[in-house]
Amino acid sequence: MSDAPIPLAKPSFDESEERLLLEALRSGWVTQGPRVAEFERLFAERVGAREAVAVSNCSAALFLALRVHGIGPGDEVIVPSLTFIATANAVELAGATPVFVDVEPRTYNVDPDEVELAITDRTRAVIPVDQVGLPVDLGRIEALAREHGLAVVEDAACAVGSRWRGEPIGSRDHLACFSFHPRKVLVTGEGGMITTPDPDQAVRLRRLRHQGMSISDLERHQSEGAVIEEYPEIGYNFRMSDLQAAVGIAQLAKLDEFLARRRALAARYDARLADFPEAIGPAVPEGSEPNYQSYIVRLRGFGEDRRDRVVDALQRSGVGSRRGLMASHLEPAWATGARRAGSLRHTEEAAADTLLLPLFTAMTDEQQDRVLQALRSAIDASAEAP
Ligand SMILES: Cc1ncc(COP(=O)(O)O)c(C=O)c1O
Repeated sequence: MSDAPIPLAKPSFDESEERLLLEALRSGWVTQGPRVAEFERLFAERVGAREAVAVSNCSAALFLALRVHGIGPGDEVIVPSLTFIATANAVELAGATPVFVDVEPRTYNVDPDEVELAITDRTRAVIPVDQVGLPVDLGRIEALAREHGLAVVEDAACAVGSRWRGEPIGSRDHLACFSFHPRKVLVTGEGGMITTPDPDQAVRLRRLRHQGMSISDLERHQSEGAVIEEYPEIGYNFRMSDLQAAVGIAQLAKLDEFLARRRALAARYDARLADFPEAIGPAVPEGSEPNYQSYIVRLRGFGEDRRDRVVDALQRSGVGSRRGLMASHLEPAWATGARRAGSLRHTEEAAADTLLLPLFTAMTDEQQDRVLQALRSAIDASAEAP
């Protein structure tokens, strides 16, 4: 048995990324060119979206999605606190106020009842998050949004390839934002994508990502004569490069293979966790097909100190681990400036009791067995306070 460290996550690259990246480099066209357009087309096709717009990362995607809905100062946006802090930070960037609500204790996804209770006459949008790739209850969130005239901006940073009631995440009637950060299922280094059912919204998103310019670089290159662009509105530089898109095209072609391996590893973890009375694996509600972007484990009632001792022991034994999910409202950055709606008890408990175990496409069964052995020792050792 090798005792090389096992990382928490690891992108899977092979000759296909190398080949497409090299082609992009040799073409000399390294940003906002044909590969970005092709990646957008293939991504939209894959997730069943009318349009997909590539951007520099998912944080930018969330901000732009709020921006096209006209959300800004004075507006409230309902978000779970139990998510990566980028969700709330995007609301701040748009100038609006995040309103933190609690999650369901088993799925760690936002609780639609709590969303409903948090709606005020200033609420303009809700950002449901498909946490660690597990689809949120979209049906109930969408119904609430319709009833109260709210925009839905789905934070699908972790959820490429996941399905809700048989439909791919990204295919529904609202904007969804994806990430291609190295901890995600598809990796382009940095990178993001926004899917939308509305072609006009897509035009606007492409303009906003490119300093508000009325015409894309691709269109300008393809036109025969001179084209003078206009700037009908203020925009930003949230462009994806063709180098990232080249990697994304190669990654997307392997999505089914990645999902199959992730699901097999998750099923194996689920089965082995039966031998761990202290641990609870991820819940998968009826109709949800997660992509297992991460494998999250809850250590029953351990609390933050004991959970941290387990994470520390895993790390020291060469097994990558992290605390499970963060409670954004407990971070100093969000101690003020946001509104908390109701009790965030389930959020605080999940933030204290959960951790992540390694899961990546190239992980072997033997590595997974080592993780489980290390988890057993780490849990046992954590029983004694330091
Ligand atoms: C739930 C969630 N939202 C947003 C983001 C931000 O994505 P990015 O790093 O691509 O900006 C992440 C990234 O980790 C995330 O997990």
